[in-house]
Amino acid sequence: MHFMTPLGWMNDPNGLVFHQGEYHLFFQFYPYDVEWGPMHWGHSKSSDGIKWEYLPVALAPSEEYDYSSVEQGHGCFSGSAISVEEQLVLMYTGNVDGRTPRQTQNIAFSKDGRSFSKSSNNPAIPTFPNEATEDFRDPKIWKKDEMYYAIIGTKKDGKGKAAIYSSQDLKDWEYRGIATESNGQQGDMWECPDLFTLDEQDILIISPMFGTKNSSPYYLLGNFNYDTCKFEQKDFFTLDYGKDFYAPQTFTDGKNRRIMIAWMNIWFAEMPEKNDGWAGAMTIARELTIKKNKLYQYPIVELNDYRVDSELVEDLQIDSKSSFNTSLTSASDVLLTIDMEKSKAEAFDIFVKCSKDMKEKTRIHFDLKQMTVLVDRELSGVGNKDNSVAPLSVNDGKLLVRLILDTNALELFINEGEYVVTNRVYPTNSDELFVIKSEDLLVIEQLENYSLKMEG
Ligand code: FRU
Repeated sequence: MHFMTPLGWMNDPNGLVFHQGEYHLFFQFYPYDVEWGPMHWGHSKSSDGIKWEYLPVALAPSEEYDYSSVEQGHGCFSGSAISVEEQLVLMYTGNVDGRTPRQTQNIAFSKDGRSFSKSSNNPAIPTFPNEATEDFRDPKIWKKDEMYYAIIGTKKDGKGKAAIYSSQDLKDWEYRGIATESNGQQGDMWECPDLFTLDEQDILIISPMFGTKNSSPYYLLGNFNYDTCKFEQKDFFTLDYGKDFYAPQTFTDGKNRRIMIAWMNIWFAEMPEKNDGWAGAMTIARELTIKKNKLYQYPIVELNDYRVDSELVEDLQIDSKSSFNTSLTSASDVLLTIDMEKSKAEAFDIFVKCSKDMKEKTRIHFDLKQMTVLVDRELSGVGNKDNSVAPLSVNDGKLLVRLILDTNALELFINEGEYVVTNRVYPTNSDELFVIKSEDLLVIEQLENYSLKMEG
């Protein structure tokens, strides 16, 4: 069900945009190997944001600002897209290691949404500001009151920073200053910044680096002032508690929803799919909303159109003498409503993607005393083994759990997206899709399980 690269290597989602009735997803792409290489922009489109169709590569390294004939890092790095009347406009970072400046911001456009031309004015932003260093990349572009803006990630003096530029015509860009920078534990390089307003809240998403290590993206809640171009930080939250989630990007669609897609990996993850000639997948598109002053993320409702077989159980009681095993086996969308008042259990487990003998399994352990959930990949099969822990919350006496289970992926949503945990899992055998176990009484008011299927 998840979007994967057709071959080769894929990392960040780029240029997410809804243009002339179609969803576009571009991505950091190296077609010639399963490892990162000179970056291209792969391209795909969708009519519903779930099922994607591959299109020809949109950008390849070709110019002195994004190509080098010597063997060194170069290419069309991450960026974003905007729909401008008939045109689809991309803004991306051209990178050539060893050149000064190494990273510049560039424009490409398309009239048909299929083939793209790089602007003859490139680089559109040829230098980096004094407050930044040569790490200066990943422009995210938007429009507000007839003005275009771009936010660009950078660093200096051990701090991650987000620079703002504005332009009236997408050609001449004016530097407007650093919107905000890391304070304390927020990283020393900011990649893929994304700034938007949702329900009158200004939100800045950051994919941070600490030294040479990338870490879990987070979001800052605050206020962005368009006159001063300063972002005042008020609060700071983890975006996804899993280990395979990086470089998320958002966009709005024809229904005016704010949708986010992330790379469902992170740098230096093992990615055993390399043995099959590809590496990289994206999360399911998630709709963002604000509730209780926090960002919630939940699969866009179009995912429900891919539900085929279903299993519905009401008032399911589980204890030491009775566990629950599903009868469905393929990719699944599982929703549980747990009645916390009737349940006596202080903990329970959902084992997913298990072998028949239960030797191989991914354990999802719910601790109802500590109110945490642990995704334990120790026995998951091949691939990374590190665990994830996230908070749990109860809504009106109910614990709401949703699991999207795919061949190599597990997206877990607590309380309709208040907390999310995304991990890749690589079982060598997964005859048992999921099993629920509890020592003491666990009362599941409702269990819905749908097989997910995409034709073609
Ligand atoms: C984030 C990132 C970006 C960069 C791209 C290169 O994952 O490092 O900062 O533009 O990947 O592929």
